[in-house]
Amino acid sequence: MAERADYHRADYHPPLRESIPNILGDYGSRPENHWDRSQADCHRIDDGQAYDIPALRQSLKGLTIGGEIIYAEELNSTNDYIKQARGSLSNGAVVLAGRQLAGRGRNGRVWYSESRAGIFVSVLLKAGRREPSFTLAAGLAVTRAVRLLGLPAGIKWPNDCVIDGKKFAGILTETQGMGDFLAVGIGVNVNNSAFPEDIAEKAVSLALAAGRRFSRQDVLADILRQLNYVYKPFMEGGFAVLRDEYLRHCVTVGAEVRLGTPLREGSSETARAVDISPSGGLVVVNGSGARREVLSGEISVRGLDGNYTA
Ligand code: BTN
Repeated sequence: MAERADYHRADYHPPLRESIPNILGDYGSRPENHWDRSQADCHRIDDGQAYDIPALRQSLKGLTIGGEIIYAEELNSTNDYIKQARGSLSNGAVVLAGRQLAGRGRNGRVWYSESRAGIFVSVLLKAGRREPSFTLAAGLAVTRAVRLLGLPAGIKWPNDCVIDGKKFAGILTETQGMGDFLAVGIGVNVNNSAFPEDIAEKAVSLALAAGRRFSRQDVLADILRQLNYVYKPFMEGGFAVLRDEYLRHCVTVGAEVRLGTPLREGSSETARAVDISPSGGLVVVNGSGARREVLSGEISVRGLDGNYTA
């Protein structure tokens, strides 16, 4: 039996029918869900497309993010896995799930995790004192990757990724109990052809926006590469060095927004978003002309359409 730490080595191949770690919950204890060496690194995910983990590792070789990749066909939440296993994971470790049973969004919301269609991935990152605004840098990385695919992606402050006002990706960055580390969880609607009624008006997938399907593996590799490309400058210069590019893609600046908290309906205030500060805050001006900076996580912002973004 391998040491548990072995599961996290990039070159580790689980032995025939060895069960995946208990951290996967009940799923890992069911015999039908045990690893099989013949399929250990090629995980077919129902829709005919597969995550080819060795190819993914190869395409990210030498980069901080993706130097260690852990794949499980099913997890409750990739962010939860990162938080629980972080002691045995290296900086930049990637945890990828074929599907999530309890995907989480911001503000306690559920993240719709349709197995055949989406990317569900989390990254463990050392960010130290710079951590609060990394979530914006991650939104920029996803936006860049999708723009390079030819789609007009934009960012709703702080980090909702949208196309024509509809959300295709969300980012949940968690710090609690993580010391100097962050769990950066990214969910992307790639090949969804429809959404549940409650989010149908607000959500879109890359496939719906483009009129064609995408390889989740390629989109994932593009996103992780872009995450690497923003990580280093961010660690050296903070959000300020990414701000100009962020502003070019930010759809919130210039819009009327409502500031409030999702838990206290009715306690909101309308303002105009006018800028993003060098530290990543949203600068707003209210009806009386008072200007102030709103920090991500401090308050919720929604468009006048009523949709919360933070
Ligand atoms: C949002 O509310 O916009 C954030 C959604 C974040 C979803 C991703 S999917 C991978 C990771 N695991 C989770 O449980 N949540 C994040």
